[in-house]
Amino acid sequence: MSGNELLEVKDLSISYVTRDERIDAVRNVSLTLEKGSIHGLVGESGCGKSTLATIFLNLIYPPARLVGGSLRYFGGPSGEISVLELKAPELRRYRWKEVSMIFQGSMNSLNPVMRVYEQIIDAMIDHDYTFEEAMLRVDTLLELAGISKRVKNLYPHELSGGMKQRVNIAIALACEPKAIIADEPTTALDVVVQSQITRKLESLRRDLGLSILFISHDISLVGAIADKISVMYAGKIVEVGKAEEILNTPAHQYTIALLASIPTLKSVESRISGIPGHPPRLNTPITGCAFADRCSKAQNRCRTENPELESISGDHFAACFFPGGGSNS
Ligand SMILES: Nc1ncnc2c1ncn2[C@@H]1O[C@H](COP(=O)(O)OP(=O)(O)O)[C@@H](O)[C@H]1O
Ligand SMILES: [Mg+2]
Repeated sequence: MSGNELLEVKDLSISYVTRDERIDAVRNVSLTLEKGSIHGLVGESGCGKSTLATIFLNLIYPPARLVGGSLRYFGGPSGEISVLELKAPELRRYRWKEVSMIFQGSMNSLNPVMRVYEQIIDAMIDHDYTFEEAMLRVDTLLELAGISKRVKNLYPHELSGGMKQRVNIAIALACEPKAIIADEPTTALDVVVQSQITRKLESLRRDLGLSILFISHDISLVGAIADKISVMYAGKIVEVGKAEEILNTPAHQYTIALLASIPTLKSVESRISGIPGHPPRLNTPITGCAFADRCSKAQNRCRTENPELESISGDHFAACFFPGGGSNS
């Protein structure tokens, strides 16, 4: 522990359990979000990123089931708390006031019959702000999110995608949280708006000292904003380290493949997008490395033994028996 942690997930496992099957979406994940930092969580669709995100607000409801693990929060007024042990009233105070979230796809789930300001003050009134206090704060929040305060009287259908996402940022900031969990906050936006929203989050970190868990399937986007990056594959963190280490000297073959599949100007016409094949569905137990089937370096050992996270250098860790050798290293 460096003493700079804000949120610390330990040994977390979450499964979806239905009558027909059990999907082990998050498998023994540990992850730390440091104060005032941006931590990128990257991995292809279906790797368990959104399921992992639900732990930060303790939003695990059936068919999701918490199989094991803990979440500690170090930012509260009375020191360290175990979030998963909070009782309802304490949990209500923790959610949105300490840690808030921009949900995946939330751009399209703003309430269509409520004006922007109503949606913003809703969150605050739920958290002990008076109506007057909340109304006074709306303009500031819109300004922080980088949109004109005139937007407050509009309905969601009157806004562009980028503006809707800025409204979501304003909602996430409403109760002055110390951390925001941003799940694919720029997916479905065009490239220019994507970079505006990313820069906005970066400036909020700088100006408000926010901590941000920035979740995306796009490693180039995460690389542009994050201090640290965790790479998730098949429900596990397979590599973690400082962003520049992950980008320049990636160790896990999955990270190397993700980086190699970023289209470059030269390759954009010829290269197929993404890594061939798919992540496993996680409805049957996995023996060995989950990436072995798609990995060009896989040996017998990779199919029979389970690689654990091991130090590559300093605080750069990877769970790979044959690390490195990527084109960037
Ligand atoms: N409500 C659900 N019921 C059953 N399975 C689910 C549910 N939500 C997600 N899953 C499964 O959990 C796995 C991880 O999904 P998710 O956390 O959404 O990944 P990501 O955000 O990385 O795309 C996937 O196999 C997905 O199909
Ligand atoms: Mg997701």
